[in-house]
Amino acid sequence: MNLKGKKALILGLANKHSIAYAIAKSLAEGGSELILSYASPALAKRVLPIADELGVADCIQCDVSKDYDIQNLFRLVKGKWDTLDFLVHSVAYAPANELNIPFHNTSRHGFLTALDISVYSLIACLREAEKMMHEGSSAITLSYYGAQKVVPNYGVMGIAKAALEASVRYLAHSLGEQGIRINAISAGPLRTLSSSAIGGIAQLQRRIEKTAPLARNIEPEDVAKTAMYLLSDLASGVTGETIFVDAGINIMAY
Ligand SMILES: NC(=O)c1ccc[n+]([C@@H]2O[C@H](COP(=O)([O-])OP(=O)(O)OC[C@H]3O[C@@H](n4cnc5c(N)ncnc54)[C@H](O)[C@@H]3O)[C@@H](O)[C@H]2O)c1
Repeated sequence: MNLKGKKALILGLANKHSIAYAIAKSLAEGGSELILSYASPALAKRVLPIADELGVADCIQCDVSKDYDIQNLFRLVKGKWDTLDFLVHSVAYAPANELNIPFHNTSRHGFLTALDISVYSLIACLREAEKMMHEGSSAITLSYYGAQKVVPNYGVMGIAKAALEASVRYLAHSLGEQGIRINAISAGPLRTLSSSAIGGIAQLQRRIEKTAPLARNIEPEDVAKTAMYLLSDLASGVTGETIFVDAGINIMAY
């Protein structure tokens, strides 16, 4: 896909297993210019070599739970580029002690943290991004089936993903008049830093191999291909959607 000269800001690359890495790699291969943003100074030693490999224009630390960091991120992006074509939001977090517990034991702190980092950050980033976006600009975020059906151990993240998918619809409406699109990809389970905190992923993946229509688990590249479609002009009439990239498991009753 020719994305030459398109400018993409990507949040949520922690390492080479990150879904954001597969998306960044595909965008770079298509000729996009990239700016990466990573959560904490501790991640710099992992992210900076990847940034070099991808030939990114800049790599900026931003903790999305901090308004100052988000404003600073976009101030620095604006210093490099006049416009922004693509925003990739691949960020989620819930405190580890809020996962793998009976859902009714979710704490107020855990609930607010999960929704703040995993959902509000999308709204806050798009509010800043909008100032640089134009007709045809596009954003994506990452969701999971736990938004729609109960997935054991996923707990408060399921509620966060439900709010994320609803936010995508409201953002699509509020940004649509300007020709800015936003969609979510609901990805099947992949082994990453985030998913390692959720118990039972290996069993889930074994079940998917047996019962999904495609009889396999997805690869990060499957997500990246749909990301290219949604970000690019190929999806010019698509906004507010949550598209499953899960080898079809969501269509099965058993
Ligand atoms: N791995 C899966 O099975 C799976 C399935 C469906 C959806 N997703 C979603 O994909 C997205 C990416 O997750 P991943 O699986 O690639 O794992 P990952 O751990 O590689 O990515 C999550 C990213 O969120 C970042 N993050 C967390 N708190 C942050 C903060 N305060 N400020 C800025 N960044 C912060 C982390 O640093 C990390 O880069 C998440 O939204 C996740 O819920 C993952």
